[in-house]
Amino acid sequence: MVIGRQINFMEKRFSGVKGMNDILPEVSHQWLWLESQLSSWLTTYGYENIRTPILENTQLFTRSIGEVTDIVEKEMYSFTDSLNGDNLTLRPEGTAGVIRSVVEHNLLYNKPQKLWYFGPMFRHERPQKGRYRQFHQLGVEALGFKGPDIDSEIILMLRDLWQRLGLLQVELHINCLGNKEERLAHRQALISYFESNIDILDEEARRRLYSNPLRILDTKNPKLQELVTGAPKLTEFLGADSLEHYNGWKDILSKLGVTYIENPRLVRGLDYYNLSVFEWVSYDLGSQATVCGGGRYDPLIAELGGKENYAIGFGLGIERLLLILEAQGKLPQKPAADIYIVNDGSGAQVYAFNLANELRKKGYQVIQNFGGGSFKSQFKKADNSQARLALVIGENEVLHNQVVIKCMATQNQEVVKRELILDSVEKLINN
Ligand code: HAM
Repeated sequence: MVIGRQINFMEKRFSGVKGMNDILPEVSHQWLWLESQLSSWLTTYGYENIRTPILENTQLFTRSIGEVTDIVEKEMYSFTDSLNGDNLTLRPEGTAGVIRSVVEHNLLYNKPQKLWYFGPMFRHERPQKGRYRQFHQLGVEALGFKGPDIDSEIILMLRDLWQRLGLLQVELHINCLGNKEERLAHRQALISYFESNIDILDEEARRRLYSNPLRILDTKNPKLQELVTGAPKLTEFLGADSLEHYNGWKDILSKLGVTYIENPRLVRGLDYYNLSVFEWVSYDLGSQATVCGGGRYDPLIAELGGKENYAIGFGLGIERLLLILEAQGKLPQKPAADIYIVNDGSGAQVYAFNLANELRKKGYQVIQNFGGGSFKSQFKKADNSQARLALVIGENEVLHNQVVIKCMATQNQEVVKRELILDSVEKLINN
């Protein structure tokens, strides 16, 4: 029975994995547009593209991002390869894979590298607006520069990007995380401070008290905010070199008119950072406000087996950037075809194929009607395609070697000789 068949049909359907989205044709043109904006922007700053695999050995991430981070503790898609027992993980971020590749291929031998990548990342988080389990990042890594000049260029190029995209009100937060010894001294001070307030701490904060007390500063628990505000600040523990780097960075930014907010509680969610860290925040995003985050991570290259060197970079959340662009009305319209070719009869079909081919060579977007149908139904399809012009070819047009060109907006039409079609199309499309 029909009902039985329908139920069966529904049962056969699959849904996508929770938190992992299809990017459908309705919006994919926005992605293509943004990707091309991003790649030309990066090229003007001398960055080169690098592409690394989506799967890496799990240990690469635990060592880079840190054992006691949300990402490694509870968000990684890790599994054992049943064929050879390897422990693999879907990349939760791009920096670790890029540094692995740079070290493996000795790319820093004798020269710095300015690299960028774009692609899906995977984190098992609770999905909500702006937070997904598969999301996309544009990542940038500048390797081999001590800073703080490059730290400043990284900020300037992001400000330039917001301007190119026409975005308003993206707020910059910065901080300095110092070096390992300074962070250790700060860590000790934090432990003592939180120990003397142990009764106020929630379960998560207590669990992190000795393993990663810095993370307690990141707590979302409103009951801990006052305690966290009064906690010792890392800036109080910075030595001369770190302060010089931080002040040098701020100095260049100020001289170039960059507005920033110093946020001593900005610690980032990954453990590899030192010195300069930053986040760009937009209030168009609701609770997932950070559109871009990054900073310096000099120790990571040696940590992953390379020679001591310098590194700084950032990750830009593409879904979040698109949400801001949408909220601020800065997304482009879906591009429509230039020309729709209406044709009827076998002679007209061959004529249409040849004409479409010629027009495409001139760079026009051409849709040829397939599947026949009356002129009326073909015009309806031409209308739906939002093409600017319809070219109409029937047996009569083939016979007289001409076409009817119809402007879809005005409904005006004219008969044009075959050899004059390209000229007429050009005039009508460009006026
Ligand atoms: P991150 O702060 O973890 O840094 O991620 C960078 C950006 O990715 C975030 O600011 C956000 O826009 C986006 N993002 C993160 N998680 C999600 C999610 N679940 N759903 C949607 N968007 C998300 C890193 O990943 C570092 N690798 C950045 C970096 C590069 N630091 C130095 N070099």
